[in-house]
Amino acid sequence: MNYKQRIKELTDLINQANYDYHTLDQPTITDYEYDQRLKELVDLETKYPEYKLDYSPTDKVGGVVLDSFEKVTHQVPMMSLSNVFNTDELIAFDERIRKVTDSYTYLSELKIDGLAVSIRYEQGKFVRAATRGNGQIGEDISENVKTIKSLPLTLNQDIDIEVRGEIFMPHKSFNKLNEERMEQDLPLFANPRNAAAGTIRQLDSKVAAKRNLDIFLYQIVNAEDYVSTQQEALEFLKSLGLKVNPNYKLNQNLDELINQINIYDDLRKTLNYETDGVVIKINEFDLHENIGYTAKYPKWATAYKFKAEQQTTKLKDITFQIGRTGVVTPVAELEPVFISGSKVSRATLHNEDYIKAKDIRVGDYVVVHKAGEIIPEVVEVDMSQRKEQTPFEMIDHCPVCHEPLERKDGEADYYCTNDQCPGKHINRLIHFSSRVAMDIDTLGEKVVETLHDLGFLNTIADIYTLKNHENDLKGLPGFADKKVEKLLAAIEDSKNQSFDKLIFGLGIKHVGAKVAKVLVSNYPSMDALRQATYEDLIEINEIGEMIAQSIVSYFEKPEHIELIDRLSAYGLNMSYESTKVIDHEFNGKTIVLTGKLENYTRDEAQAIIEKLGGKVSSSVSKKTDFVLAGSDAGSKLQKAKDLGVQVLDEETFKVKING
Ligand code: IVH
Repeated sequence: MNYKQRIKELTDLINQANYDYHTLDQPTITDYEYDQRLKELVDLETKYPEYKLDYSPTDKVGGVVLDSFEKVTHQVPMMSLSNVFNTDELIAFDERIRKVTDSYTYLSELKIDGLAVSIRYEQGKFVRAATRGNGQIGEDISENVKTIKSLPLTLNQDIDIEVRGEIFMPHKSFNKLNEERMEQDLPLFANPRNAAAGTIRQLDSKVAAKRNLDIFLYQIVNAEDYVSTQQEALEFLKSLGLKVNPNYKLNQNLDELINQINIYDDLRKTLNYETDGVVIKINEFDLHENIGYTAKYPKWATAYKFKAEQQTTKLKDITFQIGRTGVVTPVAELEPVFISGSKVSRATLHNEDYIKAKDIRVGDYVVVHKAGEIIPEVVEVDMSQRKEQTPFEMIDHCPVCHEPLERKDGEADYYCTNDQCPGKHINRLIHFSSRVAMDIDTLGEKVVETLHDLGFLNTIADIYTLKNHENDLKGLPGFADKKVEKLLAAIEDSKNQSFDKLIFGLGIKHVGAKVAKVLVSNYPSMDALRQATYEDLIEINEIGEMIAQSIVSYFEKPEHIELIDRLSAYGLNMSYESTKVIDHEFNGKTIVLTGKLENYTRDEAQAIIEKLGGKVSSSVSKKTDFVLAGSDAGSKLQKAKDLGVQVLDEETFKVKING
């Protein structure tokens, strides 16, 4: 086979499929075909990195890790938009235009609620993407932007052009991200825009790649060099293969425009992404100069802001919820109201600082909305209805066990520090037996609560001694003999559950299902994991400082060691069998890359090593098996020599990977 040609064929095919799926929203091949082709391409690129094209779709998975973002000066400043909030203000805007010209049309577009980006292509190839920053100077976010699947890295024409648009996170990706964060006890993003902003500022582009950002382009820098109206500009962007929001309309006059805004206001509720208004632009570019600019925004455009759907209702009470890691969260108990199609009777109040900053008090009438149209949140107090309400005081004792709460320096949350707190116990037990963890289906929330209250269940280990109380259980109301037998059988079965589910089930702070998998593949037994040091753990790609610290702290606690020893004695599965057995010298080995490689990028070398079962680490230690040293290698090479670690040059590496 001609591999060079096949790589080109697959690259084009997959890029086209990405375009059809992500840009046009019209898939042309099945997911299965797509995966097969992508796999073939990844394999070929690994074997023949020299044929890999610079616009390969395999680059969309990220991989580059930066120390910081470079500054970028915008050749043409990125301006913002003036706002209008109602029809009267829109009429006034129209009147100001009319003073300059009476022959014009409007181009109305949806205002996407994300963050602005300016992207440069040279000779039709992506070269750089920058944030708006202060409008004059932004930051280079190329690596993260490159991972956006709907953004092509080559255009349909070999031109030099700078385009601008909005990066956003679709609702679906936002919900998935917050679900994962909830699982890992990480703070949730309040709305999709914050999530998109947080993602685009990730230094590790692999993180950005996983979060499924999307983009709509709406502007060409120096557009009049290419076309003469905004409508043509949007058509031109599309013809280049760029993603343009389909919801734009040419409006001949103010009446048509107002009508269109109403249509958009209905439409936006059905969309999979956030919009906060309509951007109204004078369509004809030759009028722009005459209408002019202020220092901050063009006078030939404005943003009509939609009213966010919110309701005022009475705050009946503030209650407190305790999570499995002991965080105590204040919750607003509301007189029920309908917002964006659903009944809301509880809303988050986040933490003490949030409540105090907004001076929220029980008995107040509060404005509630859905953050990102999803999570109900108290926005502010309607002070005109304030009477004698008493200021909020954060509780200082746990609502469940009544032990003192603790607020750590620099954190907004209060924790119950009592490890014996039943609130935590119940939540831990529920988490342990849940479907995503040990999957003991007959041990649901209600059963856990009942058995806990009756004193049968206190810690996780007690689950496995329930069988000693079979007769007692059978005497309980609501516990028929059959039910008890099924429960005990399910508990026995769970002893064979996979090791990663057990680790996840233990409820170690910041260790979600995915992190648990990563941990067990690096430490395939409980003994190995228990002995892992902070330094060992942060060597693993997916494990950051916070997670590493949390794991080490967990295993330092005597009660956790006792728990694990008990679970081990009851016969729970505490080891992980890797399913992939790779017959290669690099399998299971740790390799450090240093210096400049001739034939591979760092990413390519890493991908090859990982494919062969090896692990790439960033620093040399006693545990390093090989150092792959390119030209100009510095201190890492020296350290390898000092420690007697085997050093490979590129030639030897090539021989080894092929052999
Ligand atoms: S045009 C010179 N069109 O809204 C004005 N902006 O509040 C250039 N935005 O900074 C902007 N959707 O981030 C334009 N269809 C759209 C937009 C849009 C969202 C954002 C953009 C801008 C902000 C101004």
